[in-house]
Amino acid sequence: MTWRASVLTLFPGMFPGPLGQSLAGRGLDDGLWSLQAQDIRAVATDRHRKVDDTPFGGGAGMVMRPDIVDAALALVADERPAIYLTPRGRPLTQARIRDLAAGPGVVLLCGRFEGVDERVIAARALEEISIGDYVLSGGEPAALVLLDACVRLLPGVMGAADSAGEESFSPGPWAGLLEYPHYTRPAEWQGRTVPDVLLSGHHGAIATWRLAEAQRITRERRPDLWAAYHQAHAAAVASPPPAP
Ligand SMILES: C[S@@+](CC[C@H](N)C(=O)[O-])C[C@H]1O[C@@H](n2cnc3c(N)ncnc32)[C@H](O)[C@@H]1O
Repeated sequence: MTWRASVLTLFPGMFPGPLGQSLAGRGLDDGLWSLQAQDIRAVATDRHRKVDDTPFGGGAGMVMRPDIVDAALALVADERPAIYLTPRGRPLTQARIRDLAAGPGVVLLCGRFEGVDERVIAARALEEISIGDYVLSGGEPAALVLLDACVRLLPGVMGAADSAGEESFSPGPWAGLLEYPHYTRPAEWQGRTVPDVLLSGHHGAIATWRLAEAQRITRERRPDLWAAYHQAHAAAVASPPPAP
């Protein structure tokens, strides 16, 4: 069955945007997934089609009204997970992406202004997800990020050559590690060469080198991931994680 995405937004023209190109765009054309961009303003009934109002308690900015957001959700809600993209949500992870991609699809609510009235988040039991510790001007780029990460995992979207098997955050022997470095032709470029082991044709040695490099990069760049990996694979790791 087709994986279905519905995006509630004040800017439907932002979709499919970059998702209309490359692998995701081909998948969309081939019917491997579908995308519905629902204009939230379409459910506004007053003369000015107002979707927001000033915050109770005072303060800067405007808040998206609960009745408007609820009516927009009612147009698309079904058994799919309904997610509000917000910087105060749980950080998005590859594990959550895998779960979402394995399900029927998603409903994504994009906020604008100061965000959405709390009551509709509670009434609709929306899952709150953040794409990082920074503030965007709207949820649309976050929705595009989440959809891109899901769509590439759908059956038929990614060719075998682009397999997700050994990449960062994937399960299996590489679980918990960032990816090792890649090299391609030419073997020498601007005086820089390729590690000898990769030219050796010795698959065992190459696998050992890649694992060691993945461990080194994770240790140097992400002490949080390294500590968790080290705990899970203490015997396989040569050196201890750095002190916090
Ligand atoms: C200007 S932001 C509102 C920020 C909010 N007042 C706060 O301080 O948390 C407007 C909208 O952008 C989206 N947004 C901003 N940053 C985001 C992030 N890091 N992850 C997901 N969505 C984000 C949300 O939908 C949010 O409602």
